[in-house]
Amino acid sequence: MLCLGIESTAHTIGIGICQLKKGKIAVLSNAAHAYRPPKGQGIIPRLAAQHHVDHFGQLLRDALLKANLSLEQIDLFAFSRGPGIGQCLRVSCAAAKFLASYFGKPILGINHCHAHLEISKGLLGMKDPLFVYVSGANTQLIIENKGKPRFLVLGETLDMGLGNMFDSFAREAGLKVPHGSEVARLAQKGKFFLLPYTVKGMNFAFAGLLTSALKARQSHRLEDVCRALLETSFAEICEAAERALCLYSKKEVVVCGGVAQNERFCQMLSSMCKLHNARLGVVEPQYNADNGAMIAYTALSEWQKGKREKLSLLMPDGYWRIDQVN
Ligand code: FE2
Repeated sequence: MLCLGIESTAHTIGIGICQLKKGKIAVLSNAAHAYRPPKGQGIIPRLAAQHHVDHFGQLLRDALLKANLSLEQIDLFAFSRGPGIGQCLRVSCAAAKFLASYFGKPILGINHCHAHLEISKGLLGMKDPLFVYVSGANTQLIIENKGKPRFLVLGETLDMGLGNMFDSFAREAGLKVPHGSEVARLAQKGKFFLLPYTVKGMNFAFAGLLTSALKARQSHRLEDVCRALLETSFAEICEAAERALCLYSKKEVVVCGGVAQNERFCQMLSSMCKLHNARLGVVEPQYNADNGAMIAYTALSEWQKGKREKLSLLMPDGYWRIDQVN
């Protein structure tokens, strides 16, 4: 069975194709293109959505060519139904509905966060991990539940996502994009100093840390502020993750989402996991960035479990939390 998945929750439009064969899911192609806002600006929803529409045709051709398939051969269409930016979400929803109705094929709406977890767990061969999900908008500690809801959020940011904090800091500091990589690059040359540290149970917060880091620029080198910002925020998540790991007796940790590409963060999590004899896993960067393959992968996994949806009832949901996934 072949599934074509479309991702467009925020800055990236992605189209991926996966195949389900003898109970196993393989990625056949994964094409993506990211909208880059002008320097000093965040995502402008109208322009990001326009970018996704403009790049859709080429990405569709790229994904089909790489998988050596034609559209007629696709058995299932899937799209990222949420959470995300309303105008961006409408692009993948409209495109998947058009393709499914034109070819008379089934369609599934996939939760973006679920897709990050599912492809990581599947490709890494993990059984029952603690998920450390760190991206621009989302920063959560998640486990799978036996009953309902399917996913439990054990801890999460009380204000902004980790990636968005780095973005906001980098924009104010006039850094180049991609912001996360630039903050990480500067941090390697910096010296650590103390910044406010907020962990409440298994939750964490970053808004106060961001304000303090911006103020600290008046008295510290930029490299030192980047180092302190990274170390402090990563330590907050590691502390909460360690508590979750011990309380739920997990032996596996999956780190996923855009910020999972940060080497220093993986190093810190790895040290924590070693102390508890837990296995840490992280997939290759193309699957931690927003991508269409994870949508197709999750749709096939859900299809195998018997999930079916009616095209006319599927609408984008910008606020669809992972603990609302059925
Ligand atoms: Fe994402």
